[in-house]
Amino acid sequence: MAETPLRIAMIGLGTVGSGVARILQQHRELLQQRAGRPLELRRVVVRDLKKTRDVDLPGSLVTDSLTGVLDDPEVDVVLELMGGTMTARDVVLQALENGKDVVTANKALLCQAGDELFGRAVKLGRTIAFEAAVAGGIPIIAAVSQSMSANRIQSIQAILNGTSNYILSQMLLAGQSYSDALGQAQELGYAEADPTLDIDGTDAAQKLTLLVRLAFGISVPVSDFHVSGIDRIEPIDISSAGELGYTIKLIAQARLGEAGLALSVRPTLVRKDRPLAQTHGSLNAVALDGDSVGPLWMSGRGAGSLPTASAVVADLVDMAVGRAQLTFPRLGLGTPGEPLPIASRDEFVSRFYLRLTVEDRPHVMADVTDILGRRGISLASVIQHEAPEVSGDAASPHVPLIIMTHRTTAGAISAAERELDDLKTVRGNRVCLAVAD
Ligand code: NAP
Ligand code: HSE
Repeated sequence: MAETPLRIAMIGLGTVGSGVARILQQHRELLQQRAGRPLELRRVVVRDLKKTRDVDLPGSLVTDSLTGVLDDPEVDVVLELMGGTMTARDVVLQALENGKDVVTANKALLCQAGDELFGRAVKLGRTIAFEAAVAGGIPIIAAVSQSMSANRIQSIQAILNGTSNYILSQMLLAGQSYSDALGQAQELGYAEADPTLDIDGTDAAQKLTLLVRLAFGISVPVSDFHVSGIDRIEPIDISSAGELGYTIKLIAQARLGEAGLALSVRPTLVRKDRPLAQTHGSLNAVALDGDSVGPLWMSGRGAGSLPTASAVVADLVDMAVGRAQLTFPRLGLGTPGEPLPIASRDEFVSRFYLRLTVEDRPHVMADVTDILGRRGISLASVIQHEAPEVSGDAASPHVPLIIMTHRTTAGAISAAERELDDLKTVRGNRVCLAVAD
């Protein structure tokens, strides 16, 4: 057995970095056996040397000097676990220029600067591995880039954000408020430093672009497809969806169709009996369809210290045995043939759940259904629970009106929504969600 260690420098000792340090300590011998050589953590870079850490490391290992570590000739692999995009980009580029391979969990970075970073890595003969950047502990990058290489992938449908899924699950199963559930997700280490990225759908969209890069060979900016998050969902949406037989999930999807590749991230009503609807808490799930293998399904912890670290350490083992060096360089080379066209977001076809807050008085329902009808949108069901009777001059109460449509296009529903906003009898938060039947 070769005994030359793989010498590792880790930038960041937060949620993910601490998990990596713990696994490297606890599974030292097992990892050495699997990697064929020791995985040696030589340096750890943090911002604040005084911060108390929940993992025990020799003081001599920890430093706040980024450049000292990146320039160290006795480092083979840099783990970028600091997050953010500006400094992280410089760190990755510097590591590559200095002849080091890189492992990162940073989907924001790869989504924003992936073309540049993968291209540079190829030119320099280096590797960037990123299993932890998508769906935390689920080995989805290995599955798509290695295990499914005999397939043309037809579709991906996935829950890719642990924080959103945790919030939706806590609201559904524990009756917790949105803000309490978000606070708990932050305490548990699931959320990004800026949790807006989790709840507005950006994080899931960034992960989807990485899967699309591997599965369909194209690099698509997040701004080129529909992205909405769970930030407008209220308890009434959770209960109304339940009444109709559905659970709300933040679904990222990529589907090959006649118009090209349709991509979106949106809160979606999923039938309660579907596995995606039963994926709760910080769990993520990915359903893939390959032309050879058929449907395939993976689920597991999508966020948190040890699950994410599990994926980072797997990349290290791949680096040590040379697997990552074979798999990842082709990312910077593009794919043969014409790039796939991206389907227009207006052409997305679905049933929709529409919640409006309307004045409870004559003709309101007629006005709403007239707008939908003129757009060719047919109603599948309508729920409006009774409001208390008012008498005399008292203003009409406002009540929620829940409409399920038959199949229509996102373009038609958006145009109808704009008209509904002009009705004086419709006000407040309006929610429009796709329905996955
Ligand atoms: P975190 O808990 O905030 O940790 C970030 C670490 O980076 C901290 O130790 C921080 O140092 C260090 N750091 C930040 N800027 C630095 C700088 N300029 N120089 C040196 N050190 C710096 O973040 P995290 O949750 O571990 O996430 C890290 C990365 O993994 C992010 O890209 C995130 O998107 C990704 N990720 C996270 C999860 C998850 O479940 N948390 C899952 C998958 C992927 P101090 O401790 O001294 O402040
Ligand atoms: N903030 C991310 C999430 C971490 O909640 O899924 C895992 O990438």
